[in-house]
Amino acid sequence: MELLAHAKLNLTLDVLGCRPDGYHDLRMVMQSITLADNLTIHPSQGERTQVRCNFSFLPNGDQNLAAKAARCFYQALGRSAPPLDIRIQKRIPVCAGMAGGSTDAAAVLRGLNQQEGLPFSPAQLAQVGEAVGADVPYCVLGGTALAEGRGELLTPLPTLPKCFVVVCKPDFSISTPELFGRVDSVKLHHHPDTSGMLAALQQGDLPGVARRMYNVFEDVLPARQAVQVTEIKQTLIHFGALGATMSGTGPTAFGLFTQRSDAEAARAALAVDYSDVLLVQTADPIWT
Ligand code: C5P
Repeated sequence: MELLAHAKLNLTLDVLGCRPDGYHDLRMVMQSITLADNLTIHPSQGERTQVRCNFSFLPNGDQNLAAKAARCFYQALGRSAPPLDIRIQKRIPVCAGMAGGSTDAAAVLRGLNQQEGLPFSPAQLAQVGEAVGADVPYCVLGGTALAEGRGELLTPLPTLPKCFVVVCKPDFSISTPELFGRVDSVKLHHHPDTSGMLAALQQGDLPGVARRMYNVFEDVLPARQAVQVTEIKQTLIHFGALGATMSGTGPTAFGLFTQRSDAEAARAALAVDYSDVLLVQTADPIWT
């Protein structure tokens, strides 16, 4: 079975506060993009599920989110998980704020659901994904969506008008728990205009969407990293992006363009300094 696992970007990301379970209440507008990993799933002759990946530093056994997804799927089905051979061709940069691990896990859930004759509806499958990771429910459904709570309360939104997206991941990674810790230790002075973003999506107003893109994690980045993210955003805007922001807990920054030629020029300019620079487009929801 062959599967596509799309990356996501955050058009907005707001942290509303801490929860008793140690997580944070979030409000985020999410968007799938055409950048995707390829997965295959086969029954295995071995004793345990194995995950093989073109990035050898990623975990290849139980600790991989793709293997955890298979365990959670069969647990929800009330059956013991058969050993699987999961292969992942990664194209989504790792530790980038684009839900690379979560989207692979979501693809495993969709693939196994298909293979078992669709025992779960899309909403039920997203619920199964909650036990795998906070971004997994959204990745099961994809498209343009509002995610609240830990990330599991999903409201589908009107599709973002077609545009070109340049994504650029600087060459450092940021620990997600550390960045949440930084948010907890400061008073955030700015928040995204989420309701304005929802209205802009409702109206199909791409410049209005781009103008409202905002991620509170940018405000708590360590200084040296903030400089790089800001430089990338400035380059994107210089070459004609309608707006630019960081995705998730970073460090990937991206910009939205109406003209492919502008997006191509921005990609080429950023590629001089960065190795992970891609020109992609937005992707439709997986379930319609
Ligand atoms: O659920 P997942 O393992 O993807 O989350 C990674 C980390 O991000 C959590 O351990 C937690 O520190 C943080 N997180 C959070 N609140 C959320 C989502 C994630 O604090 N809503």
